[in-house]
Amino acid sequence: MNKFFTVFKKNYETPRLKINILEPNVENAKLVYDVLKRQNKQDFQYAPMTDKILPETLDETLMMMQNQDEWCKTNGVNWYVFYNDELIGDQRMFYWENNKTLQCADVWIAREYWGNGFNQEIHKLIEQLAFTELKANRICRQCMKDNKKSFDSITKSGFHLDGINRQFFAMPDGTYMDQCLFSKLKSEYNK
Ligand SMILES: CC(C)(COP(=O)(O)OP(=O)(O)OC[C@H]1O[C@@H](n2cnc3c(N)ncnc32)[C@H](O)[C@@H]1OP(=O)(O)O)[C@@H](O)C(=O)NCCC(=O)NCCS
Repeated sequence: MNKFFTVFKKNYETPRLKINILEPNVENAKLVYDVLKRQNKQDFQYAPMTDKILPETLDETLMMMQNQDEWCKTNGVNWYVFYNDELIGDQRMFYWENNKTLQCADVWIAREYWGNGFNQEIHKLIEQLAFTELKANRICRQCMKDNKKSFDSITKSGFHLDGINRQFFAMPDGTYMDQCLFSKLKSEYNK
């Protein structure tokens, strides 16, 4: 697990983005809340961050970041993404050493930055680090079935749709939604 933290718990730069590790403190929570308070809940309905979809106060944002940090303690990392030195999103991932699988978890990008290929740029770096540095065998990703933006972004990155977890998510309106499961293998990297 040390190798995972050595490789992933680090600041990076991609051609257009900076990736930073942030402590869950008030100052950083302000950065996150300043972005999220401008967002429309509708745009994040398939990737809720809290039981209200988005945190509604600075305190809720800090609590969310503290929870996420806690989940990452044993095998995860939370990346904060900056463009032109402005926070625009985050990406969390977990490493399962027993089957050499990197699991990408929640990702979000501020609405005003969608459609620039930023998610794919983040994942290019993840794949390079996972397959060439960490020597992972597999990266997996998932999204709600109706999350077209995410579904398209994952498949455009060359991921294989492995299957569906039927009625996996309980939605706020009382319905259930399927979850799509994707993977890319080391043998498929760069293909
Ligand atoms: C899902 C999400 C992260 C996708 O972010 P994104 O940065 O727009 O996704 P991509 O990197 O795949 O960008 C693809 C879009 O950029 C365009 N694009 C522009 N320049 C590009 C480039 N250099 N390279 C690739 N795509 C480019 C593509 O044409 C495509 O546009 P389209 O969506 O109009 O078809 C974003 O919509 C989001 O945060 N949604 C809310 C939270 C969420 O649902 N998270 C996922 C949970 S599973």
